[in-house]
Amino acid sequence: MELLEAIKTRRAIRRFKKDPVPPELIEKMLEAARWAPSSINCQPWEFVVVTNPETKQRMSRAFVIGPFLNEAPLVIVVAVDRLKSTCPVQDGSIAAYAIWLAAHDLGLGACWVNPTVQFGIKRILGIPFNKRLVSVIAIGYPNEAPVHTRKKLSDFVFFEKHGNKKGPIEFKE
Ligand SMILES: Cc1cc2nc3c(=O)[nH]c(=O)nc-3n(C[C@H](O)[C@H](O)[C@H](O)COP(=O)(O)O)c2cc1C
Repeated sequence: MELLEAIKTRRAIRRFKKDPVPPELIEKMLEAARWAPSSINCQPWEFVVVTNPETKQRMSRAFVIGPFLNEAPLVIVVAVDRLKSTCPVQDGSIAAYAIWLAAHDLGLGACWVNPTVQFGIKRILGIPFNKRLVSVIAIGYPNEAPVHTRKKLSDFVFFEKHGNKKGPIEFKE
């Protein structure tokens, strides 16, 4: 898939088929994350790959956000070592987005779930408390095709100074 096309057509997928994600595809997504940029190339991330139904069930309950985490055949948790990074959220987010895009490129669907309940998820997965959980990514073969829109570029792009919408580009949408 062409990169710009992949960026535009990636969606948050919350309904999944039951088919498991093959290990070679899991490795490809992790490889995409490995090549994400990070502040001073510190590569502070750690990933926990979860396929065990009981563990996913416990994680899903900890979130209180509905069943879709549990229904995903694969969950990848992105954690960042706070001591290795001066920007843990940014470093972890870019790696998580790399996984999300790679999933889409591989014909999978994924959704970022915000780890608001850091303590519960860390305890379930044995993640040390000095790590920052950045993203929990539910992944599987998509069983829905949601449509989402975006604001127009002209709503939020300015030229030379904030607030100035006159510039060399006349946005079509
Ligand atoms: C930082 C971040 C946190 C998100 N947290 C959640 C979440 O907790 N639960 C959820 O269902 N979706 C979550 N999402 C997915 C967004 O709701 C989704 O990306 C957004 O609605 C746009 O839809 P699209 O990705 O299909 O274009 C999150 C996305 C991001 C980037």
